[in-house]
Amino acid sequence: MRLATQTAVNVGDEQHRDIDVTRLEPTFLREAWAGLEQEQKALSAKYFYDERGSQYFDDICALGEYYPYRTEMSMLPNVADELAQMSEDSLTVVEFGAGSLIKIRPLLRAVPSICTYVPIDVSGEHLYQATRALRHEFSDVRIKPHVADMWEPGELPPTKHQLMGFFPGSTIGNFDPVDAVAFLKRVKSYLGSGSQLLIGVDTKKSPAILHRAYNDGRGITAAFNLNMLRRLNNELEADINLKQFEHYAYYNAPLGRIEMHLVSTCDQNFSVGGRRFYMHTGESIHTENSYKYSPKQFRHLAANAGWACQRQWLADGDMFAMYLLSAER
Ligand code: AVI
Repeated sequence: MRLATQTAVNVGDEQHRDIDVTRLEPTFLREAWAGLEQEQKALSAKYFYDERGSQYFDDICALGEYYPYRTEMSMLPNVADELAQMSEDSLTVVEFGAGSLIKIRPLLRAVPSICTYVPIDVSGEHLYQATRALRHEFSDVRIKPHVADMWEPGELPPTKHQLMGFFPGSTIGNFDPVDAVAFLKRVKSYLGSGSQLLIGVDTKKSPAILHRAYNDGRGITAAFNLNMLRRLNNELEADINLKQFEHYAYYNAPLGRIEMHLVSTCDQNFSVGGRRFYMHTGESIHTENSYKYSPKQFRHLAANAGWACQRQWLADGDMFAMYLLSAER
């Protein structure tokens, strides 16, 4: 789509100022406009993670209510010990969306066969900084950071070792099931036959526990959600009044997912990149899905992408799951 360089919008008698949209990030603008024009307004969850949003997410992970992070972290040493017993061959581990390189540490500590680690992340500066600290701690592991979108990772550095993908954090739950299968297929063709994938996936559980995890008492998740609108204001010349939106997260049981929304608390209009949008009281912008899978459902999803489950770990109370998958021929 080509974007007009200037938009001047008339709404009733109101004349809005010209905006030079060529100064705005075109993909973000195009996707924001398209999402806000839908009947159910939506913005992609990938836009949560600017610097401020990533900090909010780190703060969420430190919350008592947000069980996925701490539960997975508590599982990793045991998973790593078992991996150490299973793997005799030298391993290259490729992590998708590696962030601050926290979750790889228990694996590097316990699995001596990991010779090379390739963390993939879009945020170059953050990745290089985290790599420096990791190299300091694990000087005998070759660490080859790779700046790329995990959906389009480009070429993998050549390796003769057995390949193991690593995708913790239940990020797979933020894709709808069709995209989750598509992503797992891509990972399989990227890593090739004979490879493995260690993946963390959140489980189905009591809606009350889920509700608390996404509606924390300190309002950090609300701030994380509202930060999306701040990004529109800062990066897409929007004029949204954040005070006129409320964070709303609930478990949609039939679809097996937490949905996060930003609900308009009044009738209002605002502009984004010079384009005007209207919202009624109670109307929402859908910002995130977080799917929860029973082990049976997830193994089925993985099988649809050509991965067989080799080993499965469940946390106490089945609060979180990790799977070691192997690429079927
Ligand atoms: C990154 N992702 C797995 C988180 C989740 O639980 O779906 C993002 C998140 N959204 C609200 N709180 C945390």
